[in-house]
Amino acid sequence: MKVLIIGSEGMLGHDLVDILSAENEISTTTIDTLDITDIEKTIETIKNINPDVVVHAAAFTDVDGSETNEDLAYKVNVLGTRNVAVACSEVDAALVYICTDYVFDGTKGSSYYEYDQTNPLGVYGKTKHQGEVCIRDILNKFYIVRTSWLYGFHGPNFITTMLKLAEKMESISVVADQIGSPTYTVDLATAIAELIKKPAYGTYHITNSDHCSWYEYAQEIFENTGIDIELNPVSTEEFGSPAPRPKYSVLENYNWKMEGFPKIRSYKEALREYMDLL
Ligand SMILES: NC(=O)c1ccc[n+]([C@@H]2O[C@H](COP(=O)([O-])OP(=O)(O)OC[C@H]3O[C@@H](n4cnc5c(N)ncnc54)[C@H](OP(=O)(O)O)[C@@H]3O)[C@@H](O)[C@H]2O)c1
Repeated sequence: MKVLIIGSEGMLGHDLVDILSAENEISTTTIDTLDITDIEKTIETIKNINPDVVVHAAAFTDVDGSETNEDLAYKVNVLGTRNVAVACSEVDAALVYICTDYVFDGTKGSSYYEYDQTNPLGVYGKTKHQGEVCIRDILNKFYIVRTSWLYGFHGPNFITTMLKLAEKMESISVVADQIGSPTYTVDLATAIAELIKKPAYGTYHITNSDHCSWYEYAQEIFENTGIDIELNPVSTEEFGSPAPRPKYSVLENYNWKMEGFPKIRSYKEALREYMDLL
């Protein structure tokens, strides 16, 4: 298939290019070659490439920064996504949109299914959710892929942050009352490569299996390295981030399983593999 990857220089975008190129003819755009907030350019670029599938991995991803830069977050995550959807409709391409667990408010207390009620808390989650709404308004052929707590080789992430902090601090405070599923970009890109082979359009939760708090995640990271550092569990309120975040945003990979795809491995196994390669 002809696949266009938008946001190919992002953390996930890099792995999408590597993995999807094994079985597809790949084209890529970056913010320098296509700013998705420009509707004419977006339509022109996608018309010229004429792909079967567009994977849209570009976004304004600064969760805390979105609180003070609401217009830019809206422009990129909502209008940019609308523009990509309009362009896909012009060439009848299927669209893969990468979305987030932050579309949920985290109050359910158990894992979220694809059909559960969304209620984003912060600006980032609201704009990503509105991106979903635009896609459902404009297209029939789409895969909305909600994922969570991404890490990979091509971008700063929680693991690299923890390792850097450990170099200069004797103790690190980590939030212990937010629960989610850390997800390896390589595993997510591999899942997307399988998903686009089927015209099973719709909304999917795709994450590594099992879940933890950020505090437990940090413990796992340091156990893998053997670094001995004091970790202090703190509450969301004590930590005090600018953006509100869901307390429990584990995503049940329900539609993925219902389509017959195999369970995605545990975050612990994926984390070990990633850290062995660092
Ligand atoms: N990271 C996570 O934990 C996480 C969790 C759940 C879902 N997601 C979603 O997963 C997707 C990929 O995330 P990621 O972590 O790989 O993000 P990332 O590394 O920040 O990559 C996003 C890319 O989009 C580009 N971009 C920003 N504005 C653009 C515009 N107007 N036009 C074209 N490109 C633009 C960025 O370029 P610049 O770097 O030059 O700005 C960057 O290369 C996003 O949709 C994100 O919302 C991420």
